[in-house]
Amino acid sequence: MNTIIVTGSTRRGRHSPKAALLVYKSILHNADPAEIVDLLEYDLPLLEERLKYLIEPPDAVVRFAEKVRSADAVVVISPEYNGGYSAVVKNAIDYLKEDWSGKPIGIVVVSAGPHGGKSCMDQLKQVFARLGSTVTEGSFIINNIGESITEEGEAVESVYGDHAFKLLTDLKTVVSKESEPQIR
Ligand SMILES: Cc1cc2nc3c(=O)[nH]c(=O)nc-3n(C[C@H](O)[C@H](O)[C@H](O)COP(=O)(O)O)c2cc1C
Repeated sequence: MNTIIVTGSTRRGRHSPKAALLVYKSILHNADPAEIVDLLEYDLPLLEERLKYLIEPPDAVVRFAEKVRSADAVVVISPEYNGGYSAVVKNAIDYLKEDWSGKPIGIVVVSAGPHGGKSCMDQLKQVFARLGSTVTEGSFIINNIGESITEEGEAVESVYGDHAFKLLTDLKTVVSKESEPQIR
C-alpha cells in the first residue's frame, strides 16, 4: 500500500507535523512506502478553479494532484480551528474531484485541548463522503497535541501509537477490498 500523509497546517509553530511523523513512522515500521505531503511546502494558491478546468495550472497543484492520484491511500492530518478543519485542507481538497472518488482516506485531527476535535472530524468525514471517498473507521483525534506527541513523532501517550496502527490496518483492509476483482 502506497500512502501519502497530507499535513494540513501551515500555522507558525504548528504541531501537525508531529502527527504526520507518527503515522509515517508507523507505516515505515511495516516496510510500506509512504510520503509526507506537507501543504506548507506545496504552498497551493487559493483556488481559482478546479485543476481539470485550469489551462495553465500552477506547478504545485499538478504535483499535489499527482501525489493523490498515485496513492493507494491518503491520510489527512487536520488541525481543529474554531470547530472546523483548516482552510488549507479545504483548498487542497477542492482542486480535485474525481480523484477523491473511491479513495481510501484516513483522518487524523489535531487539537490542543483535552476534548476538542470532534466537530472537525465530523465535518471532514462529511466532505469526503460527498466526494465518494472511503473514510476508514480507524480515523482518530489527537488531543493535547503539545504534550502527547514528541517532535520526533513518538507517542508519549501510547494510545496514539495504537490508534495509528489501527488506522493503517483499517486502511489496508479497505485498499485490499477495493483491489479485489468485482464479480457481477
Ligand atoms: C485559529 C485557531 C482556532 C482554534 N480553534 C480550536 C478549536 O475550535 N478546538 C480545538 O480543540 N482547538 C482549537 N485550536 C487549537 C488547535 O487545535 C491547536 O493549536 C493545534 O495545535 C492546531 O494544529 P497546528 O498546531 O498543527 O496548527 C485553535 C487554534 C487556532 C490557531
